[in-house]
Formats: sequence, C-alpha cells, structure tokens
Amino acid sequence: MSALMPTYKRLPVAFVRGRGALLYDQHNQEYIDGVSGIAVTNLGHCHPAVTEAISEQAQSLVHTSNLYRIPQQELLAAQLSGMTGMEALFFCNSGAEANETAIKLARRYGHGKGIETPTIIVLESAFHGRTMGALAATGNRAIQTEFAPMLPGFLRLPRNDIEAMREAAKHPNIVAVLLEPVQGEGGVWPLDPDYLKGVKALCHEHDWLLMFDEVQSGNGRCGAPYAFQRLDVVPDVLITAKGLGNGFPIGCCMAKGRAAHVLSPGDHGTTYGGSPLACAAAGAVINTLSAERLYEAAEPIRAAVIAGLRDRLETPEKIVDIRGLGLMIGIEVAVACDTLVIEALKRQTLINVTAGNVIRLLPPLVMTIDQAHRLGQTVADILNTQPAT
Ligand SMILES: Cc1ncc(COP(=O)(O)O)c(C=O)c1O
Repeated sequence: MSALMPTYKRLPVAFVRGRGALLYDQHNQEYIDGVSGIAVTNLGHCHPAVTEAISEQAQSLVHTSNLYRIPQQELLAAQLSGMTGMEALFFCNSGAEANETAIKLARRYGHGKGIETPTIIVLESAFHGRTMGALAATGNRAIQTEFAPMLPGFLRLPRNDIEAMREAAKHPNIVAVLLEPVQGEGGVWPLDPDYLKGVKALCHEHDWLLMFDEVQSGNGRCGAPYAFQRLDVVPDVLITAKGLGNGFPIGCCMAKGRAAHVLSPGDHGTTYGGSPLACAAAGAVINTLSAERLYEAAEPIRAAVIAGLRDRLETPEKIVDIRGLGLMIGIEVAVACDTLVIEALKRQTLINVTAGNVIRLLPPLVMTIDQAHRLGQTVADILNTQPAT
C-alpha cells in the first residue's frame, strides 16, 4: 500500500532507465515506448544533448527567480520566437499553467476593450489541463462534475462547426477562441484546416484572439515544429509544454501582434517558471529539433506504424478510423478496450487508450522504422485476440 493519493490507476511496472524509444524495467526487460510519457519525450529518453545541458547547468546555477534577468530564458525566448514567429513569451512549468496564462491574457485583453465579463470560446472534447481555469475550458463533463462550480466565462461549441461559431459571434462578450489544432485526450481529432481558416477569419472580423493549445501537438510531434505550421493558420497566442523540455517540466505561453503586450508587470507571475535549469533543458531540445529537423521523421514513423498494423490485422473491420497528424496517431477501434493496455504491456509495448475506444500512439521522433513497424504489429496482435463489438 503506497502513501500516494490514489489519483492514478498505475500499471504494474516501473522503469529504471531509457534510451531513445526504449525503456527498461528493474529486471532489464526492454519495452518499446509508444507513449513517450504522454507526448513528452519527443526526442527519446535521455537524449544526450538534453542530458548534457541539464548536467552542465545544474553545476553552475539551478534557480534565481524572475526578480532578475535570466540569460538562459532570454536565449530560449529568442530561439522559440525564431521558430514560431511569436513575439512575447511567458515561461511556466506545465501545460495547465501555460493555458491559465492564456486565459488570463484573453480576459485582460477583453477588459482592455471595456468588456467586464469576457468569454472564451472552447470546443467539445477539448482538453486543456486540470487546474481550475484549464479544467473549465476542458470539454469533459466526467472530470468536471465533482469539482463544481466551474469557472465561468467559457462558451463551448462543437468542433469543426463554423456556423455555430458564426452564431456565437452574436454574443457581445467573446474575447478569444481557445482550441487544440489536433485534439489529443478527446480522441485524437485533427481539426479541419478549412474550419481553422474560418475561425481565424472570424477572430479577425470580431477582434478575438485566436489561441492554439499545442501542449501535445507541438515541439515536433506533428511533423513541423508546431502543428499550426502544417495547418497554415497562425494563432495570436501559442501555448505549449510537454515536449518542450523532453521530460524536464517547462511550459510556455507565446503571443504575437495585438496579444503580445497585453500583460504588464504585476499581472501574472511564477516562482519557478523559466529557471536557468528548465531553460537550458528546453534550449537543448529546441536546438536539436531545429538543427536536425527531427520533426521530418514524424510522417515516415507514422506510416511504418500504420503499415505494421494493417499487415498483421486479421479483421480490418475492427478498425473504425485511423486519424491524427504526424506522431499523434489515433486508432478508433470496435473492440472492448479495457484490457488493451495491459495486453500490450505483456508484449513489452507501451500504448495508451483515450476517449473510451481510441488507441493513442505517441511514439518519439527518434523511433526507428523497424521499431515503428513492430509497434503497429503488436497493436494488431492485441486486436486479433479481442472479439469485435
Ligand atoms: C492539449 C493539452 N493541453 C494541456 C494539457 C495539460 O498539460 P499538463 O499536464 O502539463 O498540465 C495537456 C495534457 O495532456 C494537453 O494534452
């Protein structure tokens, strides 16, 4: 019996080391990692450049606070700005915190225009995190109900429904739209690029901020540094975390244009955010991503996973849909999903199931094509043992 709060149903395995797309347990048993710590270790476990940056920085300075200049933070801001076109960045420690920053920024923007009860449009099946603002923005009643009352100031609309958003524009207090360009936890739903272009046009027309939550889709995972770059729609606010530190906790809320100078001294803060150590780790991630263009591996790895799955699957009807972008792979299945993850674990393979019946694969950008093929085959092997529903 552990002294931990039982917030997680943990699998019966603990890992002691990792390298690339592989993890090892205490018996030195090797596992293929198709989850990457939930879309975090995009460069693979213990990437040497990140390990070296953390080790080196930890020997000179770990933390000072944002009361002082932090050169590593300024450097990382410049790197990310160059990579995304964003102009003003705020560093924090997680995806939820980065979304809280964006929510505050949007509300502050509204107040600046004299809107006293600003409202942010969010989507059904969205996931933005577990803190109270991010939770209110999340479109999953099951994880909200027991924590009511939810923070007000959100209007929820169906995804990919531009008419619904046009209708919502009649609401006088809208200040922003917050969405994941590729929904993750909600079932791996890439939003329709034409819908995103329509949303961008509405934002422009009504002076709303367009805010993309790329906590999961960012940092190379979707085949570009950030998914918006593949979808060709540039947001005013870009939120990220997860892969930014490749396992070292760091989040970031980036803004450009009219969103860049909304927050002023005293409006927002964090003790730990953007520490020398966190920024050294993320700096190594961003350097590696851009120097080696690792995100270009996303589509070939995705193709190998899907090829492995299709080659080995005996009953194609068990697959309802395969969707996603790059290394956010959603396989909606018509089988009972309760035991799939444990069955995969028995085959030394890590997979995830989300939204009830969607196998979610989030392999790292450094997975070899052979490993990717085997990952797909293992998923097929498991599906082959399950009766169709
Ligand atoms: C799209 C998205 N936003 C926000 C979050 C929350 O991030 P964190 O768990 O770092 O707070 C997640 C986590 O899964 C996410 O997928």
